Amino acid sequence: MIEILLTALWLMLPAYIPNSTAAVFGGGRPLDGGKTLKDGRRILGDGKTLRGLIAGTVCGMLLGLLQMYYMSRQTTIFGIELPSFGEMPGALVVIFALAFGALLGDLSMSFFKRRLGLKRGAPLPGVDQLDFVLGAWVLTYIVAPSWFTANFTFYVALAVILITPLLHVSTNVVGYLIGVKKEPW
Ligand code: CTP
Ligand code: MG
Repeated sequence: MIEILLTALWLMLPAYIPNSTAAVFGGGRPLDGGKTLKDGRRILGDGKTLRGLIAGTVCGMLLGLLQMYYMSRQTTIFGIELPSFGEMPGALVVIFALAFGALLGDLSMSFFKRRLGLKRGAPLPGVDQLDFVLGAWVLTYIVAPSWFTANFTFYVALAVILITPLLHVSTNVVGYLIGVKKEPW
């Protein structure tokens, strides 16, 4: 049980960091250049910026590299065997896909939220908490299918789906309280 939870957390760390660091370092010119579609609504909105995308990806990958550094010296944490991102250079691809995929998932959901007529920052419960998980999984599966299926087994994936919304909500409340997020979701 603890082992499954820890595996899930460890594997998802490079995908968890990008959203919150995008909120801290993001801003500036929106990715959609302020453009609207025929429905009169923004393509993505002001909440999706290039700076956020780059900063989020870089921070997610940095954490992944730190994790790899840790694993190069020690293969366990609290006595529990850690899952690996694989051998270099494949591991870099995996870490990149987890981080960038998470932001792509968030981005695609903003696209759909705008099409539904939801303004920037409007909550879409469930979707807001899991869009980046789906994005990270899809991209990682595309670039490293065998690593993905070997590591995200049924119970690990289930653990991710159960713990992510809790983590996401709590980090967002913290982000809101310290003033880097406009809404607490
Ligand atoms: N952010 C960014 N670039 C990204 C993703 C996020 O700059 N690619 C920053 C924005 O400042 C954004 C904040 O992180 O406001 C929080 O992200 P999120 O909750 O995903 O955006 P929302 O403002 O809620 O917009 P949306 O309704 O589109 O989700
Ligand atoms: Mg939001």
